[in-house]
Amino acid sequence: MAKVKNIYSCNACGAQFPQWSGQCGECKAWNSLIETVSVSPQASEKHPRFSGYAGDAQVQSLDEVEIDAEHRFITKLSELDRVLGGGLVKGSVVLIGGDPGIGKSTLLLQTLASVSESVPSLYVTGEESPQQISLRAKRLGINGQQIRLLAETHVERIIKLAQKENPNVIVIDSVQTIYTEILQSAPGNVAQLRESTAMLVRYAKQTGTSLLLVGHVTKEGTLAGPRVLEHMVDTVLYFEGDNNSQYRVLRATKNRFGAVNELGMFAMMEDGLHTVSNPSAIFLSRHDSSVSGSIITVTKEGSRPLLVEVQSLVDESPLPNPRRVTVGLEQNRLTMLLAVLHRHGGISTYNQDVFVNVVGGMRISEPAADLPTLLSIISSLKDRPLPKSLVVFGEVGLAGEIRPIQSGQDRLREAAKHGFQNAIIPAANMPKEKIEGLNIIAVKRLSDAVNYTE
Ligand code: TYD
Ligand code: MG
Repeated sequence: MAKVKNIYSCNACGAQFPQWSGQCGECKAWNSLIETVSVSPQASEKHPRFSGYAGDAQVQSLDEVEIDAEHRFITKLSELDRVLGGGLVKGSVVLIGGDPGIGKSTLLLQTLASVSESVPSLYVTGEESPQQISLRAKRLGINGQQIRLLAETHVERIIKLAQKENPNVIVIDSVQTIYTEILQSAPGNVAQLRESTAMLVRYAKQTGTSLLLVGHVTKEGTLAGPRVLEHMVDTVLYFEGDNNSQYRVLRATKNRFGAVNELGMFAMMEDGLHTVSNPSAIFLSRHDSSVSGSIITVTKEGSRPLLVEVQSLVDESPLPNPRRVTVGLEQNRLTMLLAVLHRHGGISTYNQDVFVNVVGGMRISEPAADLPTLLSIISSLKDRPLPKSLVVFGEVGLAGEIRPIQSGQDRLREAAKHGFQNAIIPAANMPKEKIEGLNIIAVKRLSDAVNYTE
């Protein structure tokens, strides 16, 4: 084993120290020192962390690079394939984050079950015992013969065993439990995460093995550990959804081999995850009659339009600083929208608590939700329901103008397909041809839209 020396380096300025301290001696940043390894490359060729820097790389022209024609594994979970951009790329590293209990392990076990029918695969568990995995597999009705299982958290041993087994696809559940012997810090710690992931990534790239890593998320909903984890991998997916609803959304936030913001829809059932291939209306709650504060919008993240319900509740506030709470939307955006509503719509909410919720655990990050959000707020404030047959989308600018959004036509067609009869949309999104069954109201300014709700 090569001699490896541990040092502490500052995340902010890169200065190195032999010992940890709370403050960096160079740049004075607090809490920025993390354990790293310092070693000369030739001293450690045997160690997987450092091997692979062989000096035989050559400069070549781009055309000469050979590409494996069949370079994707189709997982047969159609929604996962779609989010990955058409299957799992050979030698790629995919990180899947999500709340505990959302179904990451279930998703990956089902993926392996399907992939292992054609290629050898390995499931490395650091969290659950082989018995637990086996129990889950039984519940899912998976034939476990093809799936190899390893309960191990020591990354050097994982790589050694992987080299022996030589699987094409490996699942690591989860990276937070994996540790390397070259660092003394505890598993899950930033330095451990970075080093062990680096080793696994290098192994994947060298051998052409596809790697699926499970990552935990923090309370704020981002992947635990440093951003570097997201830089090191090829694809970052988030598995989200409301724990109380059976629907789950798989979302790509980074993808070197496909489009980002593509969504995959799943339903968690008794017998595992099922893909939902026609999801456009699953996020609507079915009210018998129209209720105030509820509105339907059409979002389009990725390549499919989705009908989603936005609900607002506006209620007189006893607080000096009334609350602005959003679930599934950005909170700062709401504050901004309320200011626009006051200035350009003449409706004030300074003494009201405003709660906005996107139904079904869906998260909308595009500005097309601006106008529906405001109209639902007005509807709740005035306790005046909007017609059930209405869809609304559009971005609201700070000057009170309604700005166009992309793929307006697709959204309108989707709404028409589901029987909606009225639409309030930005004037610039007005389709040239009439859309069957849809009465379109084009608005240029927020005040026009507000007048419509009168
Ligand atoms: P799991 O995959 O263990 O979540 P994670 O790895 O993200 O923590 O999923 C656990 C949840 O899924 C658990 O609350 C039970 C539920 N579940 C089902 O509803 N049906 C099933 O068939 C399985 C296996 C799990
Ligand atoms: Mg799990």
